[in-house]
Amino acid sequence: MHSVNFEKIFLTVAILAPVGILAQTLEASLPPGFMICGDQIMDPAKGSKVRFWWGYHEMDPSRLFFVVAAKAKGYVGIGFNNREQMKGADMVLGWITSNGTVTFEDRFGSTDFASPILDKEQNVKLEVAKENATHTLFAWTRPAKTSDTSGQDWQINNEMIEVLWAYTDEDPIGAPAMHTERGHMKLNLVEKHPTLGKP
Ligand code: HEM
Ligand SMILES: *[C@@H]1O[C@H](CO)[C@@H](O)[C@H](O)[C@H]1NC(C)=O
Ligand SMILES: *[C@@H]1O[C@H](CO)[C@@H](O)[C@H](O)[C@H]1NC(C)=O
Repeated sequence: MHSVNFEKIFLTVAILAPVGILAQTLEASLPPGFMICGDQIMDPAKGSKVRFWWGYHEMDPSRLFFVVAAKAKGYVGIGFNNREQMKGADMVLGWITSNGTVTFEDRFGSTDFASPILDKEQNVKLEVAKENATHTLFAWTRPAKTSDTSGQDWQINNEMIEVLWAYTDEDPIGAPAMHTERGHMKLNLVEKHPTLGKP
């Protein structure tokens, strides 16, 4: 009996001790109720610095929920498109300055070679913006089908799409400029969604 108790206590201490000294992950700040459908390292061949999660809000599955965390301190962008390039992409672009000022915008890829422009209608709701010594995290919600009929929003359906990503190491000075790194990956964002995932 004694040895069993001792072992139990020892194990508890051994498991709990490292948690106290570990850095707090930014993911720990995600609000409750976020049902995760997918979790993907977007740049496995380029340093695994960008991680993207997608899902929905438990209380209201019509609110699609997205999270991006990047090992970068500049801007972070995520885009949805039917092609691998920026033109036509429905993007979000955000950054947090060292004084804590948060910018997070619904943008649109008007060309393949220049900064995405601000959407006339902003259809994303920022839920969390956090930065630590090394990483930046944004969580946002939006409906699958937005009210933006100008063509600047991607209407999310049960299909594979190109998810674009980009980041810079430094905050933009003035208008956001060229990425430090960028890429794309084919994903289905609602395959596991309770209603949108049904054929
Ligand atoms: C903010 C200002 C931005 C500027 C000035 C810019 C500029 C450019 C330029 C010049 C290229 C072509 C050269 C290259 O392939 O690297 C490019 C490619 C690309 N950009 Fe951007 N970009 C911006 C933002 C973004 C954002 C926010 C995303 C993602 C959400 C993104 C995703 C991409 C991707 C995926 C490619 C490669 C397309 C391919 O495979 O050919 N860009 N960008
Ligand atoms: C910063 O956040 C990242 C992503 O959650 C985490 O891996 C890292 O340990 C954090 N660093 C610190 C110093 O808190
Ligand atoms: C924070 O810094 C940005 C530029 O880095 C500046 O534009 C802004 O005015 C600053 N805000 C505050 C509250 O100091």
